[in-house]
Amino acid sequence: MERTLSIIKPDGVEKKLIGEIIRRFEAAGIRIAAMKMLRLTKAEAEGFYAVHRGKPFFESLTDFMSSGPIVVMVLEGEDVIRKNRELMGATNYKEAKPGTIRADFASDIEKNIVHGSDAPETARTEIAYFFSEMDIC
Ligand code: CMP
Repeated sequence: MERTLSIIKPDGVEKKLIGEIIRRFEAAGIRIAAMKMLRLTKAEAEGFYAVHRGKPFFESLTDFMSSGPIVVMVLEGEDVIRKNRELMGATNYKEAKPGTIRADFASDIEKNIVHGSDAPETARTEIAYFFSEMDIC
């Protein structure tokens, strides 16, 4: 059984997509193992996206990610990292397949509604950024 971290970004919360996104996860057979809503400080957003430090979009991305509440979730299931990435679609919504979350709802490469871990090692680090083992059901 695999785990991954999912974030509904400030634009997803603002657009009232929390229910729709969770519905898509559950309809795909993915289990929500932990969930909370919070607002990141700028420093917390910089810590989460530390691998992107130095990239041209880093400042803007961390401003955006600390601009409003987000929903963070631990998703659990077989092959869930890949399944979640399939449901999200490509980072750039213009390249995302029709029917994916980003193709359906994003309108900007930065404000792309959701984040999902890209590999098992990243998933472990990203889950630990928000949740302790005791928080995960
Ligand atoms: P995410 O999957 O959360 O990972 C890094 C984020 O940076 C990405 O989604 C986008 O929100 C944002 N971003 C902004 N510009 C770019 C870009 N040119 N390439 C990749 N990610 C970008």
